[in-house]
Amino acid sequence: MESVVVEWVSLITRWTHITAGIAWIGSSFYFMHLDAALRGIPEIPAGKGGEAWEVHGGGFYQVRKYLVAPDRLPDHLIWHKWQAYSTWLSGIFLLGWIYYLGAELYLIDPSVRVLTPLTAAGIGFGSLLVGWLVYDGLVRSKLAKHEMALAAVGFVFIVFMAWFYQQMFSGRGALIHTGALIGTMMVGNVFLNIMPNQRKVIADLVAGRLPNPAYGKQAKTRSTHNNYLTLPVLFLMLSSHFALVFTSPYAFVIVGLVLVAGALVRVFYNIRHAGKSDPWWTWGVAGLCIAAAIAISALSAPAAREALSLDALPDPIEVAGLPPAPEEIVGIVQGRCAMCHAATPAWPGLTVAPKDVRFDTAEEIERWKPVIGLYAGRTNAMPPNNVSEITPEERHALAQWALLP
Ligand code: HEC
Repeated sequence: MESVVVEWVSLITRWTHITAGIAWIGSSFYFMHLDAALRGIPEIPAGKGGEAWEVHGGGFYQVRKYLVAPDRLPDHLIWHKWQAYSTWLSGIFLLGWIYYLGAELYLIDPSVRVLTPLTAAGIGFGSLLVGWLVYDGLVRSKLAKHEMALAAVGFVFIVFMAWFYQQMFSGRGALIHTGALIGTMMVGNVFLNIMPNQRKVIADLVAGRLPNPAYGKQAKTRSTHNNYLTLPVLFLMLSSHFALVFTSPYAFVIVGLVLVAGALVRVFYNIRHAGKSDPWWTWGVAGLCIAAAIAISALSAPAAREALSLDALPDPIEVAGLPPAPEEIVGIVQGRCAMCHAATPAWPGLTVAPKDVRFDTAEEIERWKPVIGLYAGRTNAMPPNNVSEITPEERHALAQWALLP
């Protein structure tokens, strides 16, 4: 019963989180596009907003932007905020549900740092709040006058935090927290800056005062930051499912490369939608960043490090020049993996094999060969946080068996 609840809560909250995220990012992309596409019209002088025509779903839309505000408050006003709030709330729930309640499997890696689940959760959640305070402080500081300087400091801060998380948590835990940190900055922008500023403008309109243009400007700055961060944050959320990324000791460098690549792709669209030009170079540089990320992940994986003899392992099998015997492989996998990956797992709390990856028989083990090679040979993604204490020699044997031609 318990496992049914766990499974369904995990599925339904992910479903909610992804749906809310799609709605939020969709509206962010839409409004950035709209803003870039606005053209001045006689009723709205240059610099005070503009108008765009759009065609969608069998009709034409005439959308106008008024900066800072129209002369009077319209009767019916649509707000866009719950997409952001529900993405964050469901995301924080998932973080707690998977990483804090399941800290021993997902968050705490004793070879990185020995932490109690409570301390780990405290560091994780606390860092999100601290991260927001630092980011908000930066945007309010004098530094913010220079856009590029702010971007550079923000970039260094996020890469530093990714590195910091790698000193605290498992690989997956580090990447998910880096993603959650950026997500928290983004939703903080909506909740603590954009929305309050919009409310102030409305209060001014209602009171018949002229709203301060600074409010609209600040909100636009924050929403532009959010736009540049969307693609990196999505990558980070997905990366905790990909062993080559989350097991890399240089994952923080990959984070930096993805921040640049993701922001550049948004730069391309923002310039293109403004009708200025098509800066294809942005795609070129983004592609180079991703190529570098791929190379770093491949070269820094444990097995590859060994191939480059950066940390050579004394391996009797290799010395003898013999590939590991099939019985040896079955022995390793059944000894180190099958307590979880079996038709009836013995590991407490598991009722089905994770991801239906089962190693009950030699045939099943053979079927999963390439994946075992990736998760337990080339990288150390499995066993999670090495709960079953697989040795480097055993990993090496798995890598030899699965990865060598
Ligand atoms: C403590 C239990 C446990 C042990 C021991 C364990 N695994 Fe896993 N394994 C998991 C869980 C949980 C997942 C699902 C992770 C997730 O949700 O992304 C998983 C996922 C996998 C996957 C699928 C990855 C994917 O997302 O497609 C492979 C392959 C795998 N394990 C291989 C191994 C190998 C090989 C070993 C032994 C060297 C091993 N596991 C040991 C719990 C375990």
